[in-house]
Amino acid sequence: MTNADLEKIVDTSDEWIASRTGIRERRVANGMVTSDMAVIAATSALEMADTDRDEIEMLILATVTPDYRLPSAACVVQEKMELNNAGAFDVVAACTGFINALSIASSFIENGNIKKALVIGVEKLSTFTNYKDRNTCVLFGDGAGAVVVSAEEGDRGIINSFIKSDGRYRKLLWSEVGGAANPYSESFDFNGNDKIMMNGSDIFKIAVKEMSNATLKVIEDAGLTVDDIAIVVPHQANIRIIEALAKRIKISMDKVFLNIAKYGNTSAASVPLALDEANREGRIKDGDYVVMVAFGGGLIWGATLVKW
Ligand code: COA
Repeated sequence: MTNADLEKIVDTSDEWIASRTGIRERRVANGMVTSDMAVIAATSALEMADTDRDEIEMLILATVTPDYRLPSAACVVQEKMELNNAGAFDVVAACTGFINALSIASSFIENGNIKKALVIGVEKLSTFTNYKDRNTCVLFGDGAGAVVVSAEEGDRGIINSFIKSDGRYRKLLWSEVGGAANPYSESFDFNGNDKIMMNGSDIFKIAVKEMSNATLKVIEDAGLTVDDIAIVVPHQANIRIIEALAKRIKISMDKVFLNIAKYGNTSAASVPLALDEANREGRIKDGDYVVMVAFGGGLIWGATLVKW
């Protein structure tokens, strides 16, 4: 769905969207559900990592758009992929979900509980986007990304992670209807409050500050400096947030990966999509220090430092 497509639906323009957000297109997964996208990404990740499905002992899936309220999307993916040796569960942490899921997988591996985990970030936000609200519908898209995390000798891997949230900001990015507080009722006029609602300008300021702090924390906790980092792979929410982050932590934009123009904000899928494209484009070399950083509804934010 291009910005021109959106111009036909709401009162907006390519110029407004591109200049305020950096987004030119976003994907809409017509004819498939969240678990279908997850299976495509996860199958590809298993192939890239030369991993057999029976080796996967844990499947962690980050999403706020599962196929069903019950069971988890992870269990649906487990069935579809026949990952019969895994324990599968979802992580609900909005756009930071992939960072949370990765850090859980890493902890289980470091503790010696498991040897291999499959971590998926996936969203079908189009089911949840209010295409009558120009403040939000221009931002979001669908997508999926996945990684295999394995136990390995040596100093490569996930070095540390940081996760923080502040529930006092929960009404900056939220959806009011559909949970236990306000269950769906067919006679009720939802007026869009069953979709994504947002206070964009407040989120913007908090995102820049907290993503910067989280990035610096994982770097400093590892005894490194920003100069040691080969690439930052940030959550792709708004190019201006990413540029402000780079300025604040004093890293050149050449070292910050961007693909927001093609996908918009895909929530939990955003970081793994960007990581995969950075890798395929040869932007990450063996031994590089990579920081992934995200923020999202909660509000929640976090970062992970990896030695590739
Ligand atoms: N097209 C045209 N005009 C739009 C618009 C659109 N798609 N969306 C909003 N506007 C209008 C608003 O109605 C408002 O008009 P008003 O001033 O008459 O009330 C005006 O544009 C706001 O403009 P501005 O203040 O320049 O917007 P901004 O610079 O704050 O950018 C966001 C708006 C939403 C792009 C920005 O705040 C943002 O990205 N915030 C973070 C949101 C986010 O990342 N959420 C997900 C978190 S994971």
